[in-house]
Amino acid sequence: MNKILNVALPKGRLGEKVYYMFEKAGFPCPTIKENNRKLIFENEEAGVRYFWVKPSDVAIYVERGAADIGVAGKDILAEYKPDVYELLDLKIGKCNMAVASKANFVDDRRKTLKVATKFTNIAKAYYSAQGRDIDIIHLNGSIELAPILGLSDVIVDIVETGTTLKENNLVVLEKFQDISARLIANKANFKFKSEQIEKLQKSLAEQTENL
Ligand code: PRP
Repeated sequence: MNKILNVALPKGRLGEKVYYMFEKAGFPCPTIKENNRKLIFENEEAGVRYFWVKPSDVAIYVERGAADIGVAGKDILAEYKPDVYELLDLKIGKCNMAVASKANFVDDRRKTLKVATKFTNIAKAYYSAQGRDIDIIHLNGSIELAPILGLSDVIVDIVETGTTLKENNLVVLEKFQDISARLIANKANFKFKSEQIEKLQKSLAEQTENL
């Protein structure tokens, strides 16, 4: 019997790119291209079922086995450290984890630094390696507002094109981690479906060679 591979795709532009890579790898599911609000698409013949998942939730579906595999950003993997296999760097969705502030910010190391971020664990690890005392302010989005309104001294956030920082008069102080999309797998399901997953992984690896 053909085992169905359950795949959690990150909703949005990145997810669409990922789908086309999976299609090329021999896991097509044409109905996914129909523009509707459905979240699950299946092609029994090709042995694949796709789910559209909020990008930051992909690792949860995979860790708990609701999906066998998925594609998650390295930022999410570094922040939450889910217990999954990281199989491949897909070399798309590239950006950086960075510290940014207002252009006129001067760091006084005698004071506790106020850091606004979505990535609490990443920020803590970054500053603890420097022995820097910080006060974390956890936000869920629009992080750039925090230094402008005096809520924080700096932010730790993702920078892709740099447009958001620029348009809000903020500057990068340091880029400290490269981020990109990763293929991840549930540890137990990987053993059970290793044949399909390895076939997919091999083709994706070939496709990323030219990226
Ligand atoms: C992310 C990130 C920055 C922006 C960076 O936000 O938090 O705000 O993208 O991209 P850029 O360098 O190309 O401008 P996202 O769009 O995920 O929205 P958010 O404010 O809800 O976090």
